[in-house]
Amino acid sequence: MRRLEGKTALITGIGGGMGREAALRFAAEGAHVVGCDLDERALTETIDLACAVGGAVTGSAPVDAGDATAVAAWIDEAAAAHGGIDILYNNASIQRFGAIDEISVEDWDFAIGMELNIVFYAVRAAWKHLKARGGVIVNIGSIAGTRGVEFMPQNAHGAAKAGVINLTQQLAVEGGPHGIRAVCISPGFIQTPATTFLVEDPPPALRATWDRIPLRRVGQPADVVSAAVFLASDEAAWITGVNLVVDGGGSVLG
Ligand SMILES: NC(=O)c1ccc[n+]([C@@H]2O[C@H](COP(=O)([O-])OP(=O)(O)OC[C@H]3O[C@@H](n4cnc5c(N)ncnc54)[C@H](O)[C@@H]3O)[C@@H](O)[C@H]2O)c1
Repeated sequence: MRRLEGKTALITGIGGGMGREAALRFAAEGAHVVGCDLDERALTETIDLACAVGGAVTGSAPVDAGDATAVAAWIDEAAAAHGGIDILYNNASIQRFGAIDEISVEDWDFAIGMELNIVFYAVRAAWKHLKARGGVIVNIGSIAGTRGVEFMPQNAHGAAKAGVINLTQQLAVEGGPHGIRAVCISPGFIQTPATTFLVEDPPPALRATWDRIPLRRVGQPADVVSAAVFLASDEAAWITGVNLVVDGGGSVLG
């Protein structure tokens, strides 16, 4: 028996990085994945990759998950097509960085919108569907949500991800009586298209953090998605409200 057999999983941002990995892996575990992305070509590539190995992945693009109306339409359509939803996986985000005396109000608002509001909008739209038969919300936070770093001015990014971690706890409290679980995964540095430029030319302070990772490598999308499969599955039926850090142990260093 595959671990997500028969479940309908909605995943935002399946066109690349961890979202693509999640779509392929959830489908391989028996879920019917409905994805969305801003990038139509990238989403189609993911669907084609899944089809080539017999995975059930469909989706819509362009859909901006940071637009409350657009994401609600995507969720309602998916629920109608599949008779409900079991998993909402909030993966997509877009970052804007800037030191506190340099970041513009526009960039701050954009980052909060595309990293925190984006999660709220999807949860808000999916809540009635999840309530109908219980379900799981998987939010992607970040280790940035619980610390500052030297190598990147991540004010808005860190604040937004802190919000995602805390929102997950509140969703767990409010969702529990309805059979809804809410979990957060906070990755450390993961090699994806969004971080390729850093892998190719890492600032010394970032390199130093990698050198101190106990498991001696940066993360790959599969590291995060393996945790997501477990948390989204019935094996995690009594786990809710957690923030699971997936970072090769980098966070435990003093
Ligand atoms: N890569 C890392 O090191 C790292 C670390 C911690 C947390 N994260 C988080 O993991 C998640 C995935 O990151 P990634 O590195 O795989 O990103 P990525 O940029 O490689 O892929 C993100 C995908 O989401 C899509 N997307 C972005 N905004 C969207 C929107 N508004 N609506 C629909 N689709 C949208 C993009 O088009 C892209 O296909 C993000 O929430 C990110 O903050 C990443």
